[in-house]
Amino acid sequence: MKSFNLPKRAARLIVLQRIELVNSFLLKLRKLLGRYFFSNFITKYFLNTRIIGDKYYQVMMNEFLSIKDYINKDDKDFLSIGGGLGGLELIINQVFKSNNYYFIERDYVSKKVKYGWGGTINDEAYNDLNLQKKFLKMNEMQENQINIFDYDKDILPEKKFDVIISLLSLDYHYDFDVYIEYLKKVSKIDTKIIFDTIRADYFKIIFKNVEIIRSDTNTVHKSKRIICSNFLN
Ligand SMILES: C[S@@+](CC[C@H](N)C(=O)[O-])C[C@H]1O[C@@H](n2cnc3c(N)ncnc32)[C@H](O)[C@@H]1O
Repeated sequence: MKSFNLPKRAARLIVLQRIELVNSFLLKLRKLLGRYFFSNFITKYFLNTRIIGDKYYQVMMNEFLSIKDYINKDDKDFLSIGGGLGGLELIINQVFKSNNYYFIERDYVSKKVKYGWGGTINDEAYNDLNLQKKFLKMNEMQENQINIFDYDKDILPEKKFDVIISLLSLDYHYDFDVYIEYLKKVSKIDTKIIFDTIRADYFKIIFKNVEIIRSDTNTVHKSKRIICSNFLN
């Protein structure tokens, strides 16, 4: 598989989750017509589903390459926080078979997507949980591997995870504190917690182990991808 199969409406969510997939013409339109019009009209009617499926696959493969050395076949229970449609987890599942995937996401699309830092005010979202499940199943994840939780409505899963991943979401758009107590409950001493942040050093007072695995100096947020384990308190 070198591309993802997409339900028709999924292309829209993918470009909101990954704005770098939008071509320069549509980005110009966004600048000209504004974010509201872009999120609610252009992304609904002007995207080529096949091209977005190809590009999303490439981007998720690159993300996988950035973390693959830190996961292995003994990792079975994966938690994704703000994983979007879950393209990264699909690739993990292609490589390391038979894992269980838990997704915590939100079930609405913000009217105007700003991609800023919200601190503990965390109200932006761009997902549709029915569509996410459909997308995962269309791309070879089995029904019994998929567990999707709505952050705003559901009781979150309470089990000990082997790996927790949150790319461009936790501590990138909203404060780590939003999830800190929950993460303490669902991690073991060696649970690997991988996320993007602009304040990698700060996490040295939160975790015993903190390692920078990638630096994105060219992006707007100039973030670092870190892998952490072992909460200190
Ligand atoms: C920029 S997108 C990144 C999506 C995906 N991780 C990726 O790398 O393509 C941020 C995602 O975080 C989700 N999100 C926002 N607040 C959240 C929360 N409190 N819990 C879980 N997901 C959240 C949004 O719905 C959105 O899908």
